[in-house]
Amino acid sequence: MRSEGRLLIVEDDTGVAEQLKWHFDDYHVVLAGDRRTALDRLETHRPQVVILDLGLPPDPEGTSEGLATMQDLLAARPETKIIVLTGRGSREVAMKCVEMGAYDFYNKPVDVDELGLIVRRAMHMHALEEENRKLRESALGTQPLDGLVAGSDVMLELSRKVEKLAPSDVTVLVTGESGTGKELVARALHSLSARREGPFVAINCAAIPDTLLESELFGHERGAFTGADRSRAGKIELANGGTLFLDEIGDMPPNLQAKLLRFLQEREVERVGSGKPIPVDVRVVCATNRDLSEAIREGSFRQDLYYRISEVCLHLPPLRERGTDVLLIARAFLEQFSRSQRKPVRGFTERAVNAMLEHDWPGNVRELQNRVKSAVVMAEGGKIDAADLGFESRPEVEHADADLDLRKLRDRVEREAVTRALALSNGNVAKAAALLRVTRPTFYNLLKKFSMQPPGRSGDD
Ligand SMILES: Nc1ncnc2c1ncn2[C@@H]1O[C@H](COP(=O)(O)OP(=O)(O)OP(=O)(O)O)[C@@H](O)[C@H]1O
Ligand SMILES: [Mg+2]
Repeated sequence: MRSEGRLLIVEDDTGVAEQLKWHFDDYHVVLAGDRRTALDRLETHRPQVVILDLGLPPDPEGTSEGLATMQDLLAARPETKIIVLTGRGSREVAMKCVEMGAYDFYNKPVDVDELGLIVRRAMHMHALEEENRKLRESALGTQPLDGLVAGSDVMLELSRKVEKLAPSDVTVLVTGESGTGKELVARALHSLSARREGPFVAINCAAIPDTLLESELFGHERGAFTGADRSRAGKIELANGGTLFLDEIGDMPPNLQAKLLRFLQEREVERVGSGKPIPVDVRVVCATNRDLSEAIREGSFRQDLYYRISEVCLHLPPLRERGTDVLLIARAFLEQFSRSQRKPVRGFTERAVNAMLEHDWPGNVRELQNRVKSAVVMAEGGKIDAADLGFESRPEVEHADADLDLRKLRDRVEREAVTRALALSNGNVAKAAALLRVTRPTFYNLLKKFSMQPPGRSGDD
């Protein structure tokens, strides 16, 4: 299988050019014999790496045209890695090229294997830089919240709430089925707050035996109980200056609920076996996938504690209620995993898209993450099909809906079509527009209408 690497060879000697092309058949190779053609190919082909012979017409014996070509190429696409081929003994020229921004140089005559190594390294370097650039972009907020992919109104609304709440110190209760992103939201509340430099300490109240939970949370003094051979700070204390995330708070045993309540009121902890209160400055975020009002009715959760921890509630809807978000998130996971697995998977088939839209997602985003991940691991290039995601493929989606408001229906269908087109085209706007048989400006208008982000492309054609 061919790699994702695109290589432009700028060489006026067609014999040499063809020979190089033949040797580099692992890559998508295009050739150019002069500056104009090279610039054209750069735009249409977007090579990561260019091999550039300095002796180009009209100055085949000199270097002037080659150097000018290099400058133009770098001006047009500065991220391109250019490897310059120089004549024997022209060291100054080689150094000058590197000074002007060439990635590397190679002295003729060419040993294709050696040159091949340089090309490979250049491709690798380009990929690393590209990845960094993408990371930087996402840190700047091309997503509504760092790491949280969302396009549906409910989720965009929720992201705005998180942004507004983050800087304050209010205690937030995050609710939602398992795998809906509760911890992600808790981390976002932390990283968007003034406490972001402080610690984010998470403790899962359901995962720790009741007998240990108290000292985990509050710490203990030496000798407080059998086995306590030295003093230890608890998680609450460790979160000082930062955020304390109490996961599965609904599973906290009653005696600790009382103790936690006291902490929330006094903002002091007492280690087990010590009478000395220690003041702690933390922002508390709690999460649960249980229905706490039910637990209160049953008597397993204290109402007064509930009021303390739920100064503000954020509810994460299940994935199946987020419309076409599933496709956006699936695409994000696909990009992430195909990069980390170094598998050039190019998108989802229509059957996969239909299956994802139809599925109920009882495990929500985490289930989606797992399905896409194993699909990428198993994939042999090409696109991911319904079966790769572990679905029986079904041909058509039906919309059972009593809502006959035409405009709403049209909006929904339009929005779904846009999301699907993006998924099918692997985020390529031109292709997506072509699939919908609309112009690109119209397509951009649709994106704007539904407050969707023009995608960062993962594909390359
Ligand atoms: N909207 C989203 N966009 C991208 N990734 C998401 C989104 N929501 C959740 N994830 C990812 O899905 C995984 C599960 O999310 P998270 O652990 O926050 O869920 P949770 O509600 O805490 O689950 P559980 O109840 O099982 O603890 C994480 O890897 C998270 O980064
Ligand atoms: Mg969780």
